[in-house]
Amino acid sequence: MNHNFPDDFIWGAATASFQIEGAAYGFGKLPSIWDTFSHTPGNVANGDTGDFACDHYNRFVQDIAIMKELGIKAYRFSISWPRVMKDAKNTPNPQGIEFYKNLTDELIKNDIKPVATLYHWDLPQILQDEGGWANKKTAEYFVNFADLMFRELDGRVYQWITFNEPSVFIFLGNLDGVHAPGMKDIWTSAKCVHNVLWAHGSAVKIFREKGYKGQIGITLNLAPYEPASSEINDVMAASTGDAQWNRLFLDPIFKGTYPEIIMNNREFRKVLGTLDSHEMEVISEKIDFLGINYYFRNVVKYSQKGKLGFESIKLDGEKTYFGWEVYPQGLYDILKYIKENYGNIPLYITENGATYEDLLTSDMKIHDVQRISYLKRHFEKALRAIQDGINLKGYYVWSLLDNFEWAEGYSKRFGLVYIDYNTFERIPKDSFFWYKKVIEKNTFEV
Ligand code: BGC
Repeated sequence: MNHNFPDDFIWGAATASFQIEGAAYGFGKLPSIWDTFSHTPGNVANGDTGDFACDHYNRFVQDIAIMKELGIKAYRFSISWPRVMKDAKNTPNPQGIEFYKNLTDELIKNDIKPVATLYHWDLPQILQDEGGWANKKTAEYFVNFADLMFRELDGRVYQWITFNEPSVFIFLGNLDGVHAPGMKDIWTSAKCVHNVLWAHGSAVKIFREKGYKGQIGITLNLAPYEPASSEINDVMAASTGDAQWNRLFLDPIFKGTYPEIIMNNREFRKVLGTLDSHEMEVISEKIDFLGINYYFRNVVKYSQKGKLGFESIKLDGEKTYFGWEVYPQGLYDILKYIKENYGNIPLYITENGATYEDLLTSDMKIHDVQRISYLKRHFEKALRAIQDGINLKGYYVWSLLDNFEWAEGYSKRFGLVYIDYNTFERIPKDSFFWYKKVIEKNTFEV
């Protein structure tokens, strides 16, 4: 059996602005909702904040040297909206823009393709004060921000990703209240869904109309939803889970419609049921590729406790340090699901990875054999998908560096590179050297 990936396969690694940059105050940067949320006691494990994170803002040259050593072909990062606009609405902040110009220049100099996500959750706080994503104006300001970055970085960025995981920031932030802005309201969530999708489509439209260089797509957090039993209620619960977390975003983008099951929900029907066809046309503006973040599958049962009538069940078996099931087959299944339901669009795994305890040995090494095993088994499924005719073009490991893991703060490490948060020393883990060989040989059999 040939275990080689296609010659032009893009091996990469991903990060996000709030999780690594630090430099949260000063430099003309506005506070983001994650600055506010993390500075509010009780929201983040150990009271951690993004104030310093990995200090990437000051150390990006060193970090790019690390990427070069790793051998990645592309680097997926995100642009901090509050850093590049003075008022979040219209006025650029040249100092913030300069940072991303320097970053992309340095990447290109090192032969690494820049892949930029426009929104990885750090909304300017002043926009949240005016209603956040539930306010349609936020979508308009997002388009101004997107257009500004398209223009400023035109020709430097290989691929643009409008949003990272709308489902996660909308539902964890506005329905479950465990992420910024910490709200628990189904009406707000329903409004956010439509406004975010509209912002996405409008940004794609402007990108096309103005003829900017490169490609544009979106990253969704996708996972198979399986019923806990063959009972009809559980089977329905799995369909609802699939509709809320997968199809609520896939259907509008690829088909210009919202899933029917979601429309059975009173709040969603009221918010989404009144839309004009022009808006759906904008939302379904053609994209060049789809990014998929995959971590685990969901097995669900019918439950009144869940806001939409279902609940995930706890599974036995192998878990990461987060308690997430290790289920590589789910990666294959979701890739196949996309092809079967939405066609053969180019796909990228824009995130996959795992957190483990990562203990530093006395000689300053991290023998993260579990992470290597995790990645290897997922790479194997990715290759199987390619061999079965799925249009998978690249794979970004989450993450290049240990970083601020949202509500978990610095207690969960996902990096190929260990960060000492006192000294900001970067220490490549065993998985780093293993992944380097994977890239060199273009196979997971190393
Ligand atoms: C997010 C990352 C996050 C990772 C691990 C994804 O949902 O895009 O920002 O760190 O999962 O939880």
